[in-house]
Amino acid sequence: EQYDEEYRNQFHYSPSENWMNDPNGLFYDSTTGLYNLYYQYNPDGNEWGNMSWGHAVSKDMINWTQEDVAIPVLTNQSWEDFTYTNTTGNLAQYGEVRYVGTPTTNWGDANGEKDIFSGSIVVDTENVSGLGKGAILAFYTADYQIATRVNDGQDGGWGTWIGLTEIQEQHLAYSLDGGKTFIQYSSDGNSANPQAIIPITASKGGDSANFRDPNVVYDAQNKQYLITVVSGQEALVYKSKNLLNWEYASTIQRQNDVGDGVWECPALIPMTVAGTNEIKWIFSVSVQQGAHATGSGMQYYVGTVDANGNWTPESSTTMANPMTFDSGEDFYAGITFANMSNNRTVMLGWESNWTYTGEAKTTPWYGNMTLPRELTLVKDSNSTDGYLLKNNVVSEIKNNENANVISSDDASATLNNEEKKLSSENTTYKVSATFSWNTENLPKTVGFKLRISDDGKYYMTVGYDLTTHLFFVQRLNTGEVNMGDSRDKMNAYVDTSNGTITLTVYVDETSIEAFANDGEKSITQNFFMRPENIGNQSTTGIALFSEGGSVNVENLSLNPIESIWN
Ligand code: FRU
Repeated sequence: EQYDEEYRNQFHYSPSENWMNDPNGLFYDSTTGLYNLYYQYNPDGNEWGNMSWGHAVSKDMINWTQEDVAIPVLTNQSWEDFTYTNTTGNLAQYGEVRYVGTPTTNWGDANGEKDIFSGSIVVDTENVSGLGKGAILAFYTADYQIATRVNDGQDGGWGTWIGLTEIQEQHLAYSLDGGKTFIQYSSDGNSANPQAIIPITASKGGDSANFRDPNVVYDAQNKQYLITVVSGQEALVYKSKNLLNWEYASTIQRQNDVGDGVWECPALIPMTVAGTNEIKWIFSVSVQQGAHATGSGMQYYVGTVDANGNWTPESSTTMANPMTFDSGEDFYAGITFANMSNNRTVMLGWESNWTYTGEAKTTPWYGNMTLPRELTLVKDSNSTDGYLLKNNVVSEIKNNENANVISSDDASATLNNEEKKLSSENTTYKVSATFSWNTENLPKTVGFKLRISDDGKYYMTVGYDLTTHLFFVQRLNTGEVNMGDSRDKMNAYVDTSNGTITLTVYVDETSIEAFANDGEKSITQNFFMRPENIGNQSTTGIALFSEGGSVNVENLSLNPIESIWN
């Protein structure tokens, strides 16, 4: 049956079939009460390609219904003959480069198609764009190959052909039917062959193949919209009053962060510091390679934005202190929902990692989203910047949670260097408990073993190491330890000077999202217990453990989670 295939997560969104990566254009529609999720989608295959915006809607951000593709690949595009001088990017060696008109088949992949890459949405409630009151404006990156000649006067004046060049530019499409279908916007009125609203130019977006992922946000204080776009190793900020004409405002220069891959999916996110009226601007960014996780991962910085659209980091040394958004390997390209009520900031990400593309071996679909996370910004004397971005699963998950199956008698226990099995018949659930200890008989590690196989050999571990102060998720005993060149264990520092830690874990068929102390830190990991490794046993076992000492467990709860596919 559909959505019941081997490895299909039961309470995380995935398309019924085909490839999916980044979430795009998340927004809440206050007129219909529906949350809208768009995503990088290949309508024709189970691998990356033909990038389009797939679409799903939900009343609660948990239970989703798939809709038709909202923004398909642009076909039969032609482009003007124009010249472009690049001194900083990957075209530098060619000096002045000339892009020639609509290619013929001789031009290989330059087939007149433009892919629809990642981006974001704003609801134009005041009709500042003139495109319609309440129009839904989608800003995305058009990605295409262009036939390229060097402007050297050779070849009958056309210049020497140097092959194909990848180009990325920022486009706008808008919807007047609640986000089901989109009309391409073009300043010249030709929506069949739209022009970019933020085109590539020599000085901005110099790295032509890495100029992407526009994220739009309203700056209420300065009454203007801002768009953040990555350009290779930096992010560019543009400003606008009417959402159509964008003026370059500032550059966020990469410094001191972890990783060496390009930046992707940047965002400026205004947030009120919990318990105050103070507004801070988070700069969040995905790093494609060599992030905190092996491979791709997300970082954030706390700062402020001024009237000119300059973002300044909080820390005295410029961007010296990148913070890890989620310390697992499988939270990437996260963006927040636009148009939320009650000042909520909710983010979800692609629950995967570019290092092991394809290795999940799921069929007929590939990829799913993380659970949506409520973000809160709190003051925190332990972090260099003085702030911490907490993230927790949105409370709407309760819609799918069944009653706690742990009796009050079993909700507390003392474990002394031992393991305690819980009775469980499910593979999809939330489990939570508070662990505390005293210095006399300090344990080394405490936590949960989850999805234990019948023979006890295979399981996932979520725990806390008191000797290193690291909260961790480990897939050492799953039969498939690593994915790609990834690590088997992911860690996050948690201060437990008060002698206690609360661990809350959402377990799905092939996904674990673990939280320490109510969202202070999170670790998101995929895992695959494959019949070829573990045989056909079931993996419903759950245990509490304490190693090397004694721990008190309190407030133990276990809630089965119902499938969203019913
Ligand atoms: C991030 C990303 C984006 C790009 C999209 C293409 O995962 O590489 O930078 O827009 O995926 O599918």
